[in-house]
Amino acid sequence: MSKGLSTVPAAEGLEGIVAAHTVLSDVDGQAGRLTLRGYAVEDLAHRAGFEDVAHLLLDGFFDALPSGLAPALGAARVRAFAEVAALDENLAKRDPVEAVRALIARLPDGDGLDTALLLIAAPAVFTPAVLRVAAGQQPVAPDPSLSHAADMLRMTRGVPATDGEARALDAYLVTVCDHGLNASTFAARVVASTRAGLTSAVLAGLSALKGPLHGGAPGPVIEMLDAIGAPDNAEAWILKALARGERLMGFGHRIYRVRDPRADALKAAIRQLAQTSTTVPGRLAFAEAVERAALRILRERKPDRALETNVEFYTALLLEALGLPPASFTCVFAMGRTAGWIAHAREQLATGKLVRPQSVYVGPRTKAAA
Ligand code: COA
Repeated sequence: MSKGLSTVPAAEGLEGIVAAHTVLSDVDGQAGRLTLRGYAVEDLAHRAGFEDVAHLLLDGFFDALPSGLAPALGAARVRAFAEVAALDENLAKRDPVEAVRALIARLPDGDGLDTALLLIAAPAVFTPAVLRVAAGQQPVAPDPSLSHAADMLRMTRGVPATDGEARALDAYLVTVCDHGLNASTFAARVVASTRAGLTSAVLAGLSALKGPLHGGAPGPVIEMLDAIGAPDNAEAWILKALARGERLMGFGHRIYRVRDPRADALKAAIRQLAQTSTTVPGRLAFAEAVERAALRILRERKPDRALETNVEFYTALLLEALGLPPASFTCVFAMGRTAGWIAHAREQLATGKLVRPQSVYVGPRTKAAA
């Protein structure tokens, strides 16, 4: 290491460091805005489907990208299903992210559109298969004529989803498909920068997403809600958790200093679902009571740090309302985010260089070996 670097303070967590220029998404943490290629995420969640937004992200990064992605993505789901033959009961009983990651690791590396679509299809096909095999059921083959969201729900349950359910999952996938240089996207870009290939980049992204400080939070949100049990218990439970030094899952964000705009996009999708459900309205009202208590206590306890509701809180409620088990939530997150990882990987290849930061050595001085 050059001598001059020893005086440079390390940017722990790379906070505030710009590591890429991107045309894909803009996270404005002060204003609470997320823009994907010029469109507000809330607008896209209301008006566009996952296939449209995946197309928006991939546009310009692949030759011969078809104008509508739905048929090609349906065909890719069918190709991905061939890999499900490698899924045995032992693998299916692992944490679903580990099982899905193992199946993705079997896909060949490549940089082309076929590899990209296969990787976007993979979590939507592998997650239902893992859940079903773990429950002793046969995997259900994809129906390429359905939307990505509708087909994933059908493959999970073995029966078709309602239009409302498919729309709710679609809104979720759109909401989470890209989000600036978050930890998993950065991991994917680092690997892409070595020219290892898109499968390797996606595996890096998925591994980073797995952690509870990133995409692994929504499962613990359900655990927190279940442990609280009733609105009147919220304050005492939260105070005890904070006294133990725990973090409240679904609150706080590295970039947003105001409410995460994705939380409201998801809440709107849950309200839609609630109109045709007997259980969702009560669960939503309870979660809102817990949210109010958490925000009030976090403001009192951490007045210097703006801690607001993040995307994971309402992700948990939405995916639960769709009947998906909490253990699968991170895989469903990956279903949307893979499109972002791939677009970023291609952008890194097109415009970036090998990512190679420096470290400052603070170990013992050079000494003679004994
Ligand atoms: N609950 C309680 N306290 C929290 C908190 C939470 N959810 N999030 C942050 N804090 C506290 C920290 O303990 C720290 O307090 P301290 O200064 O007394 O040590 C302070 O706020 C700053 O935390 P910091 O670790 O600098 O924030 P960060 O920007 O690195 O963390 C997250 C961002 C998302 C990792 C963090 O807010 C968190 O762990 N949230 C819960 C997990 C979650 O919901 N993840 C999904 C993110 S989309």
